[in-house]
Amino acid sequence: MLDTKGICSGYHGVTVIKSLDLSVGHEVFAVLGANGAGKTTLLATLARLLPLTEGELWFAGEDISRVSPWVSAAKGIGYVPQEKGIFPGLTVLENLFVGAMIGTRSRDERLDEVIALFPDIGARRNQLAGTLSGGESRMVACGRALMQDPKLLLLDEPTAGLSPKYVDNFFDKIREIHQNRGVSIILAEQNATKALEVADRVMVLSLGEASEVMDAADVTTDKLKEGYRI
Ligand SMILES: Nc1ncnc2c1ncn2[C@@H]1O[C@H](COP(=O)(O)OP(=O)(O)OP(=O)(O)O)[C@@H](O)[C@H]1O
Ligand SMILES: [Mg+2]
Repeated sequence: MLDTKGICSGYHGVTVIKSLDLSVGHEVFAVLGANGAGKTTLLATLARLLPLTEGELWFAGEDISRVSPWVSAAKGIGYVPQEKGIFPGLTVLENLFVGAMIGTRSRDERLDEVIALFPDIGARRNQLAGTLSGGESRMVACGRALMQDPKLLLLDEPTAGLSPKYVDNFFDKIREIHQNRGVSIILAEQNATKALEVADRVMVLSLGEASEVMDAADVTTDKLKEGYRI
């Protein structure tokens, strides 16, 4: 579904992602790595928000290396950034409707599905998104991306800083989104234990360089340490 060939990207002439080859299919694929490893940089590059300085990015058989972010979204890549990822001055409903600007399926049908997945935000549909809690904001950001009917969802640390109960609930939703809606997921995550519970395959980034890709079921502490270079 998504293939990268020797991609490099970074900021102001500094290369963060260093010649990465990646092939993600119909699966939940976790990208682990310490603070500063390059997870956000990688996801922003895949979402076309950062330019590739080298290499190629392919999605569903098309070269999308140079397309703009809205084209990438229209082709089926949904992106939930690490920060809240909401429009604070819009209501919950208005935030969700922004996602529905892409795609042709009935807006109300999509809304019903998102609210069935995240009932808590349905109850707050008329609240300004800027007044939501951290966990509620994450659900709205994820709901907005799902309103786009994506084929691939990029989730950047969706549970960082949230309470254990919320974390467990959100990881259940990740599995549900994949299994029930058929959406492939790339999940950037610090929480290796939780990521290994939901992922099919994992990779560890360390200073922008990738470890071997491992089946989640085969991951051992030693292999993880090797990936983290500790
Ligand atoms: N806008 C920017 N300008 C310059 N350097 C940046 C910028 N954003 C990130 N970096 C640098 O790129 C490197 C990778 O950062 P990135 O945010 O991708 O890491 P991360 O793995 O997502 O970390 P975290 O787990 O803390 O979110 C870091 O060294 C960071 O300082
Ligand atoms: Mg990050």
